Amino acid sequence: MGSTNSLGIHSWSILAPQRVILPQKSVPKSHSLSPTVTVSSIATNKTCSERYPIPRGCLGFAAFTGKVNKTIRGCATSPFVVANDEKYGNKQIISITPRLYDYILANVREPEVLQQLREETASMRGSQMQVSPDQAQLLAMLVQIHGAEKCIEVGVYTGYSSLAIALALPESGRLVACERDYRSLEVAKKYYDQANISHKVHVKYGLAADSLRSLILNGEACSYDFAFVDADKKMYQEYFELLLQLVRVGGLIVFDNVLWHGKVADPEVNDAKTVSIRNFNTSIMEDKRVSISMVPIGDGMTICRKR
Ligand SMILES: C[S@@+](CC[C@H](N)C(=O)[O-])C[C@H]1O[C@@H](n2cnc3c(N)ncnc32)[C@H](O)[C@@H]1O
Repeated sequence: MGSTNSLGIHSWSILAPQRVILPQKSVPKSHSLSPTVTVSSIATNKTCSERYPIPRGCLGFAAFTGKVNKTIRGCATSPFVVANDEKYGNKQIISITPRLYDYILANVREPEVLQQLREETASMRGSQMQVSPDQAQLLAMLVQIHGAEKCIEVGVYTGYSSLAIALALPESGRLVACERDYRSLEVAKKYYDQANISHKVHVKYGLAADSLRSLILNGEACSYDFAFVDADKKMYQEYFELLLQLVRVGGLIVFDNVLWHGKVADPEVNDAKTVSIRNFNTSIMEDKRVSISMVPIGDGMTICRKR
């Protein structure tokens, strides 16, 4: 299954992205600021198009928008074949293009209240931090498949992912939502009310690590079914250790942004956040306490299942 290089990166995971992602030097800092493309409206049957902000971290966009807008147009049609030789088992692995991503979004069932929250957040500072509709749908699906009742979210922002999770929970379910920004929480709470799921969400205002420790001290170890981590990348390993105590055997812990706009696979990028996520990925890969699956959705998610 490949080898580990001097950076501690497994060669199988580094080679595939390198063949498609543009050199980081050509990626302007603004690439994460959600450029817009015209796509079909999702979650409605509208036939007209709408201006829709590209959700943060979509890998295909991260790769193609990095260059110039001209590149977006040039790549909007056919998927880019990332790999198809025997090294990859002759399987054809494709990238996401804007057109293909439009298609994916057109096949996302986004509840109206989530759409409204997304649209309100679009004009707010930090809106690119929100998970994409397809990511939110995957989170909701995991909660449902798992029959989760007790969940934790680290990093709520204005509540898009937490609302998707809470909507998927049964009436008796509970989501502990950890966030340090009061203003963002105000927006989130408004939408919890609007969706009639406030009774399922216990908001923990403050530093997430403190909130998680307080849950452990409160005797809640091994009682949670599902956790989603989407804050403070340098703290991922610490959140992992705390959440591993809080989730039951068989419970899931999902981490967002594990591909970090593709930077984790570029040995020339060594800023603190990239190195931190890269080290976290290596550590999780070697951690026998969990089963793992790294999924190239949005900016990359790793699903961990406690053994
Ligand atoms: C990427 S955003 C979360 C986006 C959210 N999951 C969504 O889909 O809308 C990260 C959030 O984590 C919060 N955050 C960052 N560090 C934190 C910490 N140490 N404790 C609690 N919240 C934190 C930020 O204020 C921000 O709102």
